[in-house]
Amino acid sequence: MSTLFLTACSDWQSALHAHGDNARKIFDLIWTFGAVAATTWLLTVLVLAMALFRSRPPEARSPLQIDPDQERRLNCAVGSATALTVVVLIALTTGSFFAGKSIASMSGSETVTVRVTGHQWWWEIRYPKIGSLQAIVTANELHVPVGESVKVKLDSLDVIHSFWVPSLAGKRDLIPGRPSELTLIADKPGVYRGQCAEFCGYQHAHMAITVVAESREAFDAWRSRQDANAVTPSGDEERRGQAAFLGTGCALCHAIRGTPASGTVGPDLTHVAGRRSLAADALAMTPGALAAWVADPQSVKPGAKMPRIALSADDLNAVITYLGSLE
Ligand code: CUA
Repeated sequence: MSTLFLTACSDWQSALHAHGDNARKIFDLIWTFGAVAATTWLLTVLVLAMALFRSRPPEARSPLQIDPDQERRLNCAVGSATALTVVVLIALTTGSFFAGKSIASMSGSETVTVRVTGHQWWWEIRYPKIGSLQAIVTANELHVPVGESVKVKLDSLDVIHSFWVPSLAGKRDLIPGRPSELTLIADKPGVYRGQCAEFCGYQHAHMAITVVAESREAFDAWRSRQDANAVTPSGDEERRGQAAFLGTGCALCHAIRGTPASGTVGPDLTHVAGRRSLAADALAMTPGALAAWVADPQSVKPGAKMPRIALSADDLNAVITYLGSLE
């Protein structure tokens, strides 16, 4: 766990810190384009400076009087520079094309498939039924096995979002009604952060996703834990919290597997306390933050679909205790 945490502190959200094949190809492109563009800029500025500062003898002859030698030299210089520009453009376009082709060729070797749906402003994540494990729904936290190709199927239910976990893969837009997909590989265990990369409304900046890359064993163990229904409340406080949750409207939007709550408007909360963050990474998963979020969601994410539910202080505490037990 501490290794995961340390990784999370350093290079967890940067296209310049690539931790997977897909991201590395893009990283190589970034440097190639950057180096070529910087060199071109330097050469251009150098030539411009030479032209500006070159000492010239006072012009004696008429501007209409052309020096054929000088004309030839100028034509030659401009022609060579144009040819070089075309060569550089063709080389960069070819490099970009082959990088894209090589990323596309990663498709087909996936061992895990997951469906990610964009909502204003959170990520719904669905793992399909596999073997004896049922299909599950979670939110804002994607778990993947290290070193394996993961197919991420993308779609949106409202506006255009963009899935971008820069350390692991390039961007891909989520366009309503036009499903797309990308292949993602993490070659090092760790926690990576992604961010919606297409302006999608008021809380676009609070639409982050966490990717947890872990060993195959840890991933399988996580997947099995997610397969279980929510724990049954074990004490009076938790029972009171569950009753308040089911009786006050929370259940209209949220599902908790194993209870009558089956709403699909908001995130599935069956294992909510097992996640690292709340409200698409707007808050850390702590009892205090959870209480603040439930007590007044609009003060944390103005415009979010979650309304303020009128709960007495005791009911609020009980709901937080109950939600905190759902690991
Ligand atoms: Cu979703 Cu920006």
